Amino acid sequence: MTRRLLLATLGAVPLALSATSPIDASRLRSRLEELSLCGRVAGGSFADGVSRVAFSDADIAGRALVMRWMRKAGLDPKIDAAGNIFGRRAGSDSKLEPVLFGSHTDSVPNGGNFDGDLGTLSAIEVIEALNAQRIVTRRPLEIVDWTNEEGVAYNNGLFGSRAVAGLLDPGEMDAVWQGVSQKDALKKIGGDAGRIDSAKRSAGWFHAYFELHIEQGGNLDREKIPIGVVEGIVAIDRYEVEFRGFANHAGTTPMADRQDALLAASELTIAVNEIVRGEPGRQVGTIGHMEVIPNAPNVVPGMVKMTVELRDLSAEKILRLGGAVETRAREIAAKTRTALEFRKGSHHGSALADPKLQTLIEDSSAKLGFATKRLPSGAGHDAQSMARMGQMAMIFVPSVNGISHSPKELTRWEDCANGAAVLLETVRRAAS
Ligand code: GLV
Ligand code: MN
Ligand code: MN
Repeated sequence: MTRRLLLATLGAVPLALSATSPIDASRLRSRLEELSLCGRVAGGSFADGVSRVAFSDADIAGRALVMRWMRKAGLDPKIDAAGNIFGRRAGSDSKLEPVLFGSHTDSVPNGGNFDGDLGTLSAIEVIEALNAQRIVTRRPLEIVDWTNEEGVAYNNGLFGSRAVAGLLDPGEMDAVWQGVSQKDALKKIGGDAGRIDSAKRSAGWFHAYFELHIEQGGNLDREKIPIGVVEGIVAIDRYEVEFRGFANHAGTTPMADRQDALLAASELTIAVNEIVRGEPGRQVGTIGHMEVIPNAPNVVPGMVKMTVELRDLSAEKILRLGGAVETRAREIAAKTRTALEFRKGSHHGSALADPKLQTLIEDSSAKLGFATKRLPSGAGHDAQSMARMGQMAMIFVPSVNGISHSPKELTRWEDCANGAAVLLETVRRAAS
């Protein structure tokens, strides 16, 4: 079945929850579809996914929609100095810490329609459902759309949640990406680099943090389980690597005389794969970005800038693997007569979900009649930052064929609604 046909077919499936659940599955779907217009390729459709990289015009348009929908749900959205959008709903006891939940609406280039969007729009849907039922929770509720979760811009993710957790790196405000400083980028979305410290909150400022997200892997879809309960989130290390060779004429420079930076980068690409696969475990390693300079067919490449990214639940393991990659990079540089710069970029620690909150999600799912499975998250999430400040847990829903960070990313509408219903029930219990 083609993807377009699959989407059309999925659209025709009756939304299982619409009759019985306070979640308005059709509104959730139509908002996901409307948000998808922000960052859609000209002339494209929902099936073509989105490019909504943080701080882009598309991101700004998406954030405006989120704030409009927050207002419709009776919230008064506030943007903090890091650009995070928060909306608070009062509880009956205003002295209690709030239950916090949400996700992000930025995307990778050529990304999908569900990564982050589902959790953010479902958070608004939870507020709408509570309003419709006239339920006042004991604890206040706070929903959030985090800034630059993906970290495509400035090559460092979880920006907004790290600012809140006090985890920004020194000098991060001085970073420049595609000619724009982090300071100016923040100003574009209503943040303020000069007051970035004001975004920081103290540990324990929320009672519990929940994030609904698509799995982005294939476990739930393969096993036909509607709800995943995340046990923990991987640590992520990124390195910035530069090989400098010598740009020279491709026709006249003999093979033996070349200092080809792309040859070195290619050898390192293969070496990363060998190193990461060289021991048992679930660790993964990726070279996902490479710039070849001058990138012309008739010039021996003079310089390559590339990233190396390593992930595993064990931060120690990826630190050790990073060391092995650096050693190989130095050997390759010597062999190819290139100069090497190998810099550690960002590090995001792993995070375990709180066992009691995992049980709460399981109990909420059981009440709604959904089977669950516990599983780790190979993707990074803002919940990692929140885990430094308090207890967190995540709800996963199936990704068709486990595809994500791709326009082909797809979660069935019914699964989206199921996830939102579990989020509602979980938040309601946590806030009671
Ligand atoms: C974010 O989606 C990441 O895991 O890179
Ligand atoms: Mn995400
Ligand atoms: Mn993502």
